Amino acid sequence: MSFPHRHLLGIKGLSEPDILYLLDRADEAVQISRRRDKKTSTLRGLTQINLFFEASTRTQASFELAGKRLGADVMNMSVANSSVKKGETLIDTAMTLNAMHPDVLVVRHSSAGAVALLAQKVGCPVINAGDGAHEHPTQALLDALTIRRTKGRIARLTVAICGDVLHSRVARSNIILLNQLGARVRVIAPSTLLPSGIADMGVEVFQNMEDGLRDADVVMMLRLQRERMAGSFVPSIREYFRYYGLDAQKLRAAKADALVMHPGPMNRGVEIASDIADGPQSVIEMQVEMGVAVRMAVMETLMLSEGNHP
Ligand code: NCD
Repeated sequence: MSFPHRHLLGIKGLSEPDILYLLDRADEAVQISRRRDKKTSTLRGLTQINLFFEASTRTQASFELAGKRLGADVMNMSVANSSVKKGETLIDTAMTLNAMHPDVLVVRHSSAGAVALLAQKVGCPVINAGDGAHEHPTQALLDALTIRRTKGRIARLTVAICGDVLHSRVARSNIILLNQLGARVRVIAPSTLLPSGIADMGVEVFQNMEDGLRDADVVMMLRLQRERMAGSFVPSIREYFRYYGLDAQKLRAAKADALVMHPGPMNRGVEIASDIADGPQSVIEMQVEMGVAVRMAVMETLMLSEGNHP
């Protein structure tokens, strides 16, 4: 077995070889999306259901295209038109879909742990497309693929993750993955946006952007997740941008060839200046391209080894 897991619920629990296996497979999948004929028959006859309890545009589109390019039949279920609105529980929804014999379920939910719970109840592989502030494993994998293809490696690079770390499943999954592959990870945020115990995750913590960005190889910006904030975590958006928004002046503290990344959706003028988001150091569009490749690799890996797991 080259990948010994039935589900992809998080980066936690994956070994370095597991991560490298998925990245290598994703590297091969990149070519498929660059061809004129993008359809393969790898997953022909198999059914993929995207079950999104939380709004998503890019992640859902990315999983949908990935499945279609592998030849699977893809069905999207989003909460807006599901019976969850009529009071059905998470598990009942999952059991109903399970009875339709899907071959993979891609699930996003606003509660941490909801996807893992669902995975225990259904008969097919489950992929976590983001659960609350917990994990978003395919995002961390696509970020790693983007870094590896641009910088040639991940080990010993200094990666600064900046902004709303507290509410970010992207930050958590990236911290775990980057540490596993030997990068030096920093987080930069005001104390109100840092989870307690963050230093135990193997990161260096900074509250000042210039200090945290000094000589960084990669600058990973996070969206200020106002929809997850109960109350006020930052004095004002203008203040936030002034101290924590990535602009040309702050970026100068990082290495001259540092990559600028953002998982999207971006708040221009809040966590990142527009000219930086569109500037020569930005690899934000490449992240989107790598996203489809990573999701193809993950789905193909889990679905084709289905049956080999207890
Ligand atoms: C991220 C998410 O949903 O966690 N976005 C995404 O997957 N496209 C980050 C975010 O919402 O800020």
